[in-house]
Amino acid sequence: MRVGVVFGGRSVEHLVSIRSATTVCEGLAAAGHTVVPLYADEAGCFVDESTSTAVLREQRPHVTGSTPGASLHHLTNATLDAVFPIIHGTFGEDGTLQGLLEMLAMPYVGCSTAASAVAMDKVLSKRVFSSAGIPVVPWTSIDRATFAATGIDSIAAFTDAESLPLFVKPAVGGSSVGCVKVKERGALGEAIAFALRFDTVALIERGVAAREVELAVLGASGSSMQASVPGEIVPGADFYDYADKYLKNDAKLLAPAPVEGAVLEQLQAAATAAMVAIGGAGLARVDFFLLPDGSYYLNEINTLPGFTSVSMYPLLWSLSGVPLPELCDRLVQFAVQRHANQAATDAALRKFVAAVVAGQAI
Ligand SMILES: Nc1ncnc2c1ncn2[C@@H]1O[C@H](COP(=O)(O)OP(=O)(O)O)[C@@H](O)[C@H]1O
Ligand SMILES: [Mg+2]
Repeated sequence: MRVGVVFGGRSVEHLVSIRSATTVCEGLAAAGHTVVPLYADEAGCFVDESTSTAVLREQRPHVTGSTPGASLHHLTNATLDAVFPIIHGTFGEDGTLQGLLEMLAMPYVGCSTAASAVAMDKVLSKRVFSSAGIPVVPWTSIDRATFAATGIDSIAAFTDAESLPLFVKPAVGGSSVGCVKVKERGALGEAIAFALRFDTVALIERGVAAREVELAVLGASGSSMQASVPGEIVPGADFYDYADKYLKNDAKLLAPAPVEGAVLEQLQAAATAAMVAIGGAGLARVDFFLLPDGSYYLNEINTLPGFTSVSMYPLLWSLSGVPLPELCDRLVQFAVQRHANQAATDAALRKFVAAVVAGQAI
């Protein structure tokens, strides 16, 4: 198949996306597919295939000075059997790119528009996980207007002295941008104001002293979803903040992580259940807090996780017996299958309406 790998884009994880795309292109080529790299610059403007290939070769962003709309033909004119979007965070992982690909009737890897958007929003996803019976840390939220009008009054009950430490973060975000650990109540307002710089809603969570265990999930959808062996992040700082993720080299990645038996089984069941709960498809990395007594909270689900040569997602699958080429190939096959199913659904709808209009029995 001719597979377009869409990468770069307007997210703060632009550079990570270039590295992830490099790995995805390698995997797809090794599986026998023809790879068409499609880079979008930091303003969201697409470039042609040869410029995209140069970005991958040089591992450096490129600036076009174009506008996204004027550059869209690079995506729409590429004759592709499927698209593998590998843009992390905003305008890539949040349903916006997925919506564009839906409009263009292009089969694409990963979650739908709605599932991506739910997963990206920590308030929405926590509500969905709770309603599916998956434990999340106690939390509350506050929006800009409420905070501007009454400060922290509306969340006073949640933030008493016993609740410390708290974690404050933007509801929609990633890379730990705007995430603050609050150790004294006096610092809460400032932390919320900081988080609200990056989104209109801030999330306030109970801080837990727990291991950070991550699982990779893979499957077409629903009951066929499978979970990998576990991985673990051991932060090099007080928590896994931006510098710890990208700038320093102090955090440790354990893969496979020492989690076994019934504890592992419950995490694997929760990881696939979380994917089903959001209506997800294809891939996700599901991040947990694992407590010393074996109980857990689901922290977040990432629907386009890091896919670099050292990233947890492909590593966990390779340790689970799915090497990179097979992983990329399976994801593309799921995409094509889902697109065919969607086409059949669309045809059924049109047939139904045509029959009703013609006054025929259905
Ligand atoms: N409730 C919490 N308790 C303990 N640590 C937390 C909590 N929330 C976040 N953290 C720490 O902050 C990091 C980033 O938070 P996370 O919710 O995963 O946001 P992001 O989407 O930016 O990765 C986590 O990996 C963890 O180290
Ligand atoms: Mg995280």
